Amino acid sequence: MNRSESARKEVLKASRSYYAHQGYFEELTYDENTNKRELDFLEFAFRTHATHRVRDVLDVACGSGRHVLGLANRGYKCVGQDYTPEQIKKARVKANREGISVKLLQCDATKLKYENEFDAVLAVRILFLLPDDDDVLTCLRHVYRALKSGGILICNIANPFYDGENWFSLKSIQRGHYVNDIRAPNIRFISIDQIQDFDPLHGVAWWQEIHVVEAPDGTHIFQERERLRLFTYWDIIHYLQAAGFGETKCYPDWNIKPTKKPKAEWLVFVSRKD
Ligand SMILES: C[S@@+](CC[C@H](N)C(=O)[O-])C[C@H]1O[C@@H](n2cnc3c(N)ncnc32)[C@H](O)[C@@H]1O
Repeated sequence: MNRSESARKEVLKASRSYYAHQGYFEELTYDENTNKRELDFLEFAFRTHATHRVRDVLDVACGSGRHVLGLANRGYKCVGQDYTPEQIKKARVKANREGISVKLLQCDATKLKYENEFDAVLAVRILFLLPDDDDVLTCLRHVYRALKSGGILICNIANPFYDGENWFSLKSIQRGHYVNDIRAPNIRFISIDQIQDFDPLHGVAWWQEIHVVEAPDGTHIFQERERLRLFTYWDIIHYLQAAGFGETKCYPDWNIKPTKKPKAEWLVFVSRKD
């Protein structure tokens, strides 16, 4: 195994471990209103940017399924994939419980095998987690191949220039730590994130994270590492073009109206395969 292959495996291992337990606090950090708003945005993008009616949708890192199950519930024919088997299992349990018909598979986002099969592909909160930049290009090329002509990709990145407080803003990275304390009925979620290694030249940060979840079934403590690639708007535009995409629009924070000088937390890109 060469050096870069072992670094790649380290990132995938850390990410899998992190997302294996993420289900415990996911419901806290993503509420129903956010989900609904994002699902409405996805349907807006389907109607506005695809050249034909969207029916078949692929989600390349579906997590525990908040988008893929939501879209299937709204009548789309959906396939959800994720690298972490625990996330797929969680999505399956939810789909079965709610009687939602959806295909769910464990798969790496850089190893998609589809060709001209989907009207829309989602890559939400995944590109900045991929082990290296070659993986980003590979993933986008595979997505391009998976799309039918006139179909669209919707992807997003965390915006490092966001001027508020969160775990990926340059402010927190430069300070070296970020603490979050969320309380909701019956549950409290505390996360303490400390920068372990920040490489400003390559825009890469490793966080050491401790999550404490006080839930009705007891207190859970998780200690994890997570790697974050700090992409800018232009990085993503460059990758989308290199993967073959045509027109791309950026919608800060899932807002339907494009803003001139966004200080958004999230930059959402919609690109078409022409
Ligand atoms: C931040 S979550 C986003 C999940 C979902 N898209 C959402 O927005 O709720 C990132 C997901 O990417 C998955 N993941 C990490 N590396 C991956 C890879 N190489 N291929 C596919 N999924 C991956 C993780 O297991 C996790 O479920």
